Amino acid sequence: MADNKQVTLERIKAPLGKTMEEYELFLRQALHSESRYFDDILKYIFDNRGKGVRPTLVMLTAGLMAGKEHKHSQRVLLSAALIELIHTASLVHDDVIDRADLRHGKASINGQFGKRNAILTGDFILSRIFELGMESLEFDILTYVSHTIKWLCEGEVIQDEQTKTLGMTHEKYYDIIDKKTASLLAISCGVGALAVKAPAREVDAAYEFGRNLGMAFQIKDDILDYAAADQTGKPTCADLREHKITLPLLETFATMTPEEVAATKELVARGDDEAIAIIRTKVMEHNGMERAERVMEKFLASARAALTAYPESDYRESLEMMCDFLAMRKK
Ligand code: FPP
Ligand code: MG
Repeated sequence: MADNKQVTLERIKAPLGKTMEEYELFLRQALHSESRYFDDILKYIFDNRGKGVRPTLVMLTAGLMAGKEHKHSQRVLLSAALIELIHTASLVHDDVIDRADLRHGKASINGQFGKRNAILTGDFILSRIFELGMESLEFDILTYVSHTIKWLCEGEVIQDEQTKTLGMTHEKYYDIIDKKTASLLAISCGVGALAVKAPAREVDAAYEFGRNLGMAFQIKDDILDYAAADQTGKPTCADLREHKITLPLLETFATMTPEEVAATKELVARGDDEAIAIIRTKVMEHNGMERAERVMEKFLASARAALTAYPESDYRESLEMMCDFLAMRKK
């Protein structure tokens, strides 16, 4: 675990130094259109983007694998940008699907520019991913990252199906979060290694590190969904309102009789305020959040253990801090 000083993304990104500025320039050029109106939308995306966890993982893993003397190459910048563009396109489309008017506390693309423009913007970003990848001639990188686009779509569809049948099991849950979240963190770390031409076994090891981190990240997200709204700033049990059964409730089911599980699933199907409040109380009484937290800790421990194979460096320390940052967040 990192030292007691507060773990912030600023501290985590510190070893990247000026590379971060080069990366920002690269990303803005990637998010550009000759069409003035479209470029306004892309600028809006650039100005209101998230914390950059995934591209940071790409660049830190590249540094971890290539050593301190490594100068961040175009391959690394390209990889980081492709990952951020995939993430961005998926969120633009996700907000259309979820009819969400807000993203990162600001109007979402559909909220600000309308549904049609949001769909086209997601498509445009996907096209840029392939254009940049092809033009760069770095086909190994484009091929490697493109797998995750397919997994993101699959994860969403399987999740959607589960909300209709309420047939969620632990196995299906892990498959969904692997595809919809962990795959992108896994590919972020794997492509960081690939970008500096690390041997295949190192690319696989980086992928596994990112996958474990991503599983922990999504489980934390699912635990926080049950936390009080005044802690997270988001409405409590938003997932349940969409009939999504996640790990805290699955862990609660594991301690219930089949009759209690069936009765609770009926409440999930109802999904009104009263039903949600009853389910949340059950999860609290059965320690569903704590049980889910223990599962999260296992994934996190695997991620942390993978880092011990590397010599101590600023990059390794930052990746260790990233584990703490993602697991200890309160919102
Ligand atoms: C957030 O989900 C979104 C995802 C995990 C991925 C969504 C993937 C697609 C829409 C497939 C299309 C992919 C591409 C690349 C175009 P959430 O709604 O659970 O979380 P939120 O609270 O951040 O919205
Ligand atoms: Mg959403």
